[in-house]
Amino acid sequence: MKILGIACSPRKQGNTVALLEEVLRGSKQEGAETELYSVSDKTIEPCQGCRTCWETGECFIQDDMNGLGNRMIEADGIVFGTPIYFYNMTAQAKAIVDRTIALSRPERNLANKVGSVVAVAGSLGLVDALKDLYFYFITRQMLPANYVAAYGGAEGEVKDLEKCMRACNDLGRQMVQIVAMNFQYPKEIGRSSFAFGTHTR
Ligand SMILES: Cc1cc2nc3c(=O)[nH]c(=O)nc-3n(C[C@H](O)[C@H](O)[C@H](O)COP(=O)(O)O)c2cc1C
Repeated sequence: MKILGIACSPRKQGNTVALLEEVLRGSKQEGAETELYSVSDKTIEPCQGCRTCWETGECFIQDDMNGLGNRMIEADGIVFGTPIYFYNMTAQAKAIVDRTIALSRPERNLANKVGSVVAVAGSLGLVDALKDLYFYFITRQMLPANYVAAYGGAEGEVKDLEKCMRACNDLGRQMVQIVAMNFQYPKEIGRSSFAFGTHTR
């Protein structure tokens, strides 16, 4: 079983990384293999909306999203970590979310993977990032685990928040336990929809 943490902060040793490290420590303690992926020094361009990937399963943009997409497919659980930038997830996090539209093929998608979020703000704006990422999980037919919302500004200062670190560790453990339960969405519901509304034809 593999749990992947994706740090969507440009800071290599920032608060997002600190939170994810503790989540992954919890997952490891519970027996999972773990990997921390950081967007720092990576290039992940925004989606161009061409929809070529819906036909081919491949994005025409050749950048670091190719490698990250493969890691996401290999993982059983994915923890998105993002700082709050102007009341929402970072542009890097949103680019990843959008580019996973390429992972919508019946044979290559994110369905039934356990998803969770750790988010950190200096003072305000956590809820919209959490809400947007959990809506995203639902559209991908991922299985939502808990989240951790933290407050911190200076690099790595969340490490001093004892309760928060404990919550991260618990989250990592919980993810492994949920993966082990092997919940599955019913197959007859299409894997590729991204809007479940009566307004769509
Ligand atoms: C461009 C930018 C925008 C930010 N916007 C917000 C914000 O809207 N609300 C907030 O509480 N903190 C905001 N912050 C502060 C970060 O969320 C905070 O410093 C966080 O701990 C950074 O996480 P990191 O160390 O993982 O990068 C912003 C920081 C930057 C650089």
